[in-house]
Amino acid sequence: MNKITIAIDGFSSTGKSTIAKQLAKKLKYVYVDSGAMYRAVTYFAMENNIISHTFFYKDELIKRLDDIILTFKYNTSLGFAEIYLNNVNIEKEIRTLGVSKLVSKVAEVSEVRKKLVEQQKKFGENKGVVMDGRDIGTVVFPNAELKLFMNASASKRAKRRFDELIKRGDQVTFEEILKNVEYRDHIDSTREDSPLMKADDAIEIDNSDLTLEEQFDKIYTIVQEKL
Ligand code: C5P
Repeated sequence: MNKITIAIDGFSSTGKSTIAKQLAKKLKYVYVDSGAMYRAVTYFAMENNIISHTFFYKDELIKRLDDIILTFKYNTSLGFAEIYLNNVNIEKEIRTLGVSKLVSKVAEVSEVRKKLVEQQKKFGENKGVVMDGRDIGTVVFPNAELKLFMNASASKRAKRRFDELIKRGDQVTFEEILKNVEYRDHIDSTREDSPLMKADDAIEIDNSDLTLEEQFDKIYTIVQEKL
């Protein structure tokens, strides 16, 4: 069957990765979580005292970019690929609120974006890829056969992220998660380099009132028309 590229963009916590994983599984495509890559660079910067909530040594991060090797390895029991930073699995470490609070600042740096976009484009060279992020349909794969733009109300999105973190055992409040989701949306959509925006040819899906099943059925119908 004809293999295509599927680009999924949207605001924070709109369930992009959930639908991307479901589609990749169903189609036997590769799933790439581009947000995990920005989170991994942020984690590296935090671990190396390059960024905190009080400072950000941007030039130092730019100098150290070659020390950051990101790879994905498929985990059969999870059914998706986990991210490794210099051969260490950091899938859990990058999902904290601490990383979420700093990642959008790191993602504003053009040199960081250039490095990650280059790697992301390579992942898509042979098609058969589902990638989610903020600039996938606009910058990484402007020629993707299918572009989706996901949206949902900020409170629904914060609730989803809050439930996820609580389930993991993290100590967070709903208010701080909501604040973080809104803060990231603002920086992500107003930054100079590759701001989050809907590609002209993207199909917008508001999933505020859709169950996961309804959402999958709706999107899978659209996918089938493209195959
Ligand atoms: O998708 P996720 O919420 O994990 O992404 C974390 C952050 O990484 C986003 O808020 C955004 O600042 C940045 N990002 C980006 N471009 C992408 C994916 C993520 O700038 N393609």
